[in-house]
Amino acid sequence: MAFVEVCLWTLLAVVLSWTIFHVTKTMKKATKLADVAAEEKRDGVPDVIIVGAGVGGSALAYALAKDGRRVHVIERDMREPVRMMGECMQPGGRLLLSKLGLQDCLEGIDAQKSTGLALFKDGKETLTSFPMDTNFPYEPYGRFFHNGRFVQRLRQKASSLPNVRLEEGTVRSLIEEKGVVKGVTYKNSSGEETTAFAPLTVVCDGCHSNLRRFLNNNNAEVTAYEIGYISKNCRLENPDKLHLIMAKPSFAMLYQISSTDVRCNFELLSNNLPSVSNGEMASFVKNSIAPQVPLKLRKTFLKGLDEGANIKITQAKRMPATLSGKKGVIVLGDAFNMRHPVIASGMMVLLSDILILSRLLKPLGNLGDSNQVSEVMKSFYVLRKPMSATVNTLGNAFWQVLIASKDEAKEAMRQGCFDYLSSGGVRTSGMMAMFGGMNPMPLCLIYHLFVITLFSIGQLLSPFPTPLRIWHSLRLFGLSLKLLVPHLKAEGVSQMLSPANAVAYRKSYMDATVV
Ligand SMILES: Cc1cc2nc3c(=O)[nH]c(=O)nc-3n(C[C@H](O)[C@H](O)[C@H](O)COP(=O)(O)OP(=O)(O)OC[C@H]3O[C@@H](n4cnc5c(N)ncnc54)[C@H](O)[C@@H]3O)c2cc1C
Ligand SMILES: *[C@@H]1O[C@H](CO)[C@@H](O)[C@H](O)[C@H]1NC(C)=O
Repeated sequence: MAFVEVCLWTLLAVVLSWTIFHVTKTMKKATKLADVAAEEKRDGVPDVIIVGAGVGGSALAYALAKDGRRVHVIERDMREPVRMMGECMQPGGRLLLSKLGLQDCLEGIDAQKSTGLALFKDGKETLTSFPMDTNFPYEPYGRFFHNGRFVQRLRQKASSLPNVRLEEGTVRSLIEEKGVVKGVTYKNSSGEETTAFAPLTVVCDGCHSNLRRFLNNNNAEVTAYEIGYISKNCRLENPDKLHLIMAKPSFAMLYQISSTDVRCNFELLSNNLPSVSNGEMASFVKNSIAPQVPLKLRKTFLKGLDEGANIKITQAKRMPATLSGKKGVIVLGDAFNMRHPVIASGMMVLLSDILILSRLLKPLGNLGDSNQVSEVMKSFYVLRKPMSATVNTLGNAFWQVLIASKDEAKEAMRQGCFDYLSSGGVRTSGMMAMFGGMNPMPLCLIYHLFVITLFSIGQLLSPFPTPLRIWHSLRLFGLSLKLLVPHLKAEGVSQMLSPANAVAYRKSYMDATVV
């Protein structure tokens, strides 16, 4: 009996002490959880606010959140954008996407492979490809796609991370205290004015940026107008080439942006555009542009028009990059730097900027340390040069060459450019590596521009030099200097000509390792 009693008491003691132990443990756990919750609430402030979830804002949100930052992205319109820009990712851009871990955003959107250019001038045609034999550590192919589908994939990818909060809202202004940006005021999805605060704000609100003007006095210059539409249910004979037609007054383009859709567009230089709404534009395309499109492409070019496709007009802008003196804020993307879109590389420069910036910000403990952030920005400004200066100069210079002219020297340069790209061998592959962002070396670009000039002069002087031909050649040389010098000035002579910068860029940002 006594034995049973002892056993029962022991059992009771064990149960009791276990219960007490367990209860105190869960109580402790609960208080710990409450502490964590309190801490999170206290720390509810994100590390960074990003204005705009376009190409740049979304990719940056992903990169910073991967490094453990809490990111609050505010985007005006979460619906799939429908627009005529950012439809081609160059091979260099794809490499950068993969280094950011975002390469899958080009999958599942019916993107088309791009292998180079099909160039047309005065009934002649030449097919070029991105070179295979460089030390470029990635597939030498780009992609064509619907921009909106790509942007949606980037947004999904960013918001798949738990430390990214992607909210619909329109940012109205930056909140500033003693010259330091502390956050933003915005209208949220229920239409109410509200505020958000963070140690760092990144403005990535695109080419029509409203916020840029609070930060610097950098002005965007409208250089031309891109007019385009989509021809549906058709396929180009070479769907993997960007078809570039050297026409008058400027270029026309066709490229396959999905398995069934072809983007058709062309450029006009004056702002006195035929009206789209009263049908003048459609007749203008039919009468003035279509006849310059090679016969084998013309049916595709006209199909969209005949089926009443929506004609879009987009401004081409140019704006050199300048750093903002304001603290607590960074400007990126089209709000920061733009070049003529003819070489389809804006997204590539932006991805390069994001890769550089996210690596520089990674070691910082506190993004609110404005001195450290401004040091980072100074380094960023130098490190980005090889890619940005190459693309900006190539884009702006190539565009100027493409414009038709009555001036014989200019025409010789235009013809020389076509012939140079058609000539094959290292000339073509060298230029195609430039176009593909596979060789971001400003010095190499200057070399090609120089050779194109000599090449054009050679043709201008043949079959034998006459005084008039010599005169035109001298003018052509002057023209090519005129093409280059403003860019050298805008981008910084020493930074553009320093091969060390370019080699360092290549080593750090264009190797095969994924970060
Ligand atoms: C005609 C044309 C063709 C182009 N083609 C190519 C190409 O083929 N390949 C290429 O690489 N590049 C191309 N570019 C360039 C490329 O499109 C841009 O460089 C790129 O889209 C810039 O990205 P971003 O993030 O700065 O801006 P965007 O992608 O425009 O994103 C800005 C975002 O901010 C949002 N936003 C704006 N204001 C606010 C606000 N106040 N509050 C909240 N959100 C806001 C917008 O809704 C938008 O989602 C082209 C450009 C042009 C003009
Ligand atoms: C919008 O902001 C107001 C004021 O801060 C807030 O009460 C409301 O919940 C917000 N709406 C949404 C959808 O976040």
